[in-house]
Amino acid sequence: MPTALSLHGVRVSYGPVEALHGVDLAFPDGAVTALLGRNGAGRSTLLRTLAGLLTPTAGRIEWDGRDITRWTAAERARDGLALIPDGKGVFGGLSVRDNLTVFAGGATDITPALDAFPVLRKRLAQRAGTLSGGEQQMLAVSRALLRPSRVLLLDELSQGLAPRVVGQLYEVVTQLAAEKRAVVLVEQYAGEALRRADVAYVLRRGQVAFAGEPGELMTDGHVSLFD
Ligand SMILES: Nc1ncnc2c1ncn2[C@@H]1O[C@H](COP(=O)(O)OP(=O)(O)O)[C@@H](O)[C@H]1O
Ligand SMILES: [Mg+2]
Repeated sequence: MPTALSLHGVRVSYGPVEALHGVDLAFPDGAVTALLGRNGAGRSTLLRTLAGLLTPTAGRIEWDGRDITRWTAAERARDGLALIPDGKGVFGGLSVRDNLTVFAGGATDITPALDAFPVLRKRLAQRAGTLSGGEQQMLAVSRALLRPSRVLLLDELSQGLAPRVVGQLYEVVTQLAAEKRAVVLVEQYAGEALRRADVAYVLRRGQVAFAGEPGELMTDGHVSLFD
């Protein structure tokens, strides 16, 4: 699998407190990577660092053979790196249609999102803040469907959602990976993410505790990785 995006010895701190202690990881093109770990392990910090919202104190980030460590978040976004943050990735006060139009960069063709998530068609005039949790995540993921994204970073997509809704969302993002995008699913220990993933990593206290086949993590003996 060709590698789109990789980190090399990346350290990240919040003030005096270091949250990532030298992380080496690679996210392949055309594949789903599950990035797991318990709360506080450093997963969101890693995604924010990849997106350019946090600057490493050491190490470098490469994308397609380029060193992008010093690129701004806007430069990375323009080049096709999309972060769907945890919590709300939508504008709650705007209608669904207006959210989609903003995501499409002012373009009017929002059909790719409506084809992927037909339920949104019925909600176009509704304020995004009044959608169910699952519908809000569908709307958030639509951002990646309406922009030419090449890397999709999804932070705790499944949190608080019914398994059926999670299945629907994962179906769409797995399809995106099949279209050559690198998809990174950040979750806590989540069987569904592992079943969909081609590669699995576990972060533990700011370090990589596991890198390998998703199937390996589904067997016994890995519980301590999630301490
Ligand atoms: N904005 C912040 N300011 C200070 N410390 C933070 C901040 N965000 C996260 N941290 C700390 O960094 C560590 C990693 O957190 P985080 O990346 O949010 O983990 P995860 O997403 O895996 O739950 C934790 O110890 C957390 O308390
Ligand atoms: Mg997090």
